[in-house]
Amino acid sequence: MKKTILITGWMGYIGSHAVVAFEQAWYKTVIVDNLTNSCLSAIRSIWKILWYNPIFEELDLRDKNSLDKVFQKYNFDWVIHFAWLKSVWESCDYALKYYDNNIIWSIVLFELMEKYSVKNIIFSSSATVYNPENSLPFKEKDAVWKTTNPYWTSKFLLEKMLEELSIFANFRVMNLRYFNPIWAHPSWYIWENPEWLPNNLLPYIMKVAIWELNKLSIFGGDYDTVDWTWVRDYIDVVDLIDWHVLAYKRFEKIDLNKWVFEIYNLGVWKWVSVLEMVRTSKKITWKDIKFEIVDRREGDLASVYCDASKALNVLWWKAKTSLETSLKNSWEFYNK
Ligand code: NAD
Ligand code: WQD
Repeated sequence: MKKTILITGWMGYIGSHAVVAFEQAWYKTVIVDNLTNSCLSAIRSIWKILWYNPIFEELDLRDKNSLDKVFQKYNFDWVIHFAWLKSVWESCDYALKYYDNNIIWSIVLFELMEKYSVKNIIFSSSATVYNPENSLPFKEKDAVWKTTNPYWTSKFLLEKMLEELSIFANFRVMNLRYFNPIWAHPSWYIWENPEWLPNNLLPYIMKVAIWELNKLSIFGGDYDTVDWTWVRDYIDVVDLIDWHVLAYKRFEKIDLNKWVFEIYNLGVWKWVSVLEMVRTSKKITWKDIKFEIVDRREGDLASVYCDASKALNVLWWKAKTSLETSLKNSWEFYNK
């Protein structure tokens, strides 16, 4: 009998990759999204890969009655919680909208999980919860409470709530801290290709390479790093999702009556600077990626990368895709 998984926020960049991976791993997924940051074309893209449509329920998780009906309709074994508003900069302008969307309706989800005894959850957290003064590379045991914007704070609060729900309500939680997911599915049908001005580095570089954008603004060139620009830990999104399938299999082995709250860093344990990303992109695209070093983007950390040994040792998982391969795939897509 196929296990049934509720995937919230499935139409997004990462969620859409998860639907494909779990369906191809013979799980039955029920997918919920309110299309705040996605569009129905994602369904067609998933169909092109799977040759069928997973079960899609278009609803806002804040609509408790509709979500209750979904829990009544399906006998869920697991929840994977991707749905989130994730723009750091937007969260500073719309703090209450972010607290409402990211925290209040997550509570709605958890209430229904408890009501229907669905206690297993994989939660999409973020490297941005780590305190800036932690020594690098960040480890799961490092301190995480000094968040400085509503997006990061909502992530941190949800982690804390889930930790306490694991202790006091027997939730079984896999708390995954993503570093910098990049690129997209090798089929090129699902990807992060923002219709508007990209926030993130890789889509921006690719749009400069295809002359859709004039030049890249590098936020700050005076940081205490190898070449004075920011460093990050980039993980291919397909490797990131493979880990979720492994994590799910692991949880299936743990005694059902045991409460669980496990944290894992999902990164590749390597750092890459912005200028190195530009140089590598130039090498792969044979294009001149024009850039200008501008003022710092306040609020973010200069250096962020992880110690991924726990994910490696506990789940024998290792990221298989090199940065060059991710960039080559990305260029193949943008240049087609
Ligand atoms: P995304 O914006 O592409 O996808 C999020 C999806 O959730 C969207 O389809 C949106 O419509 C949906 N959604 C939002 N609020 C909803 C609600 N109230 N009800 C129903 N659906 C709702 O984001 P993503 O990049 O795929 O990120 C997925 C998760 O991973 C998020 O929790 C994000 O915080 C986390 N994460 C992302 C990154 C990254 O760089 N992409 C890094 C770390 C963590
Ligand atoms: C990568 C590097 C920028 C664009 C974001 C979110 C964060 C998290 C991960 C969800 C950084 C530099 C970028 C540009 C630049 N998402 N850059 N010029 O900043 O690590 O974090 O994704 O949890 O919340 O904010 O990723 O891809 O935006 O930037 O110089 O036009 O490239 O400073 O060092 P970041 P990014």
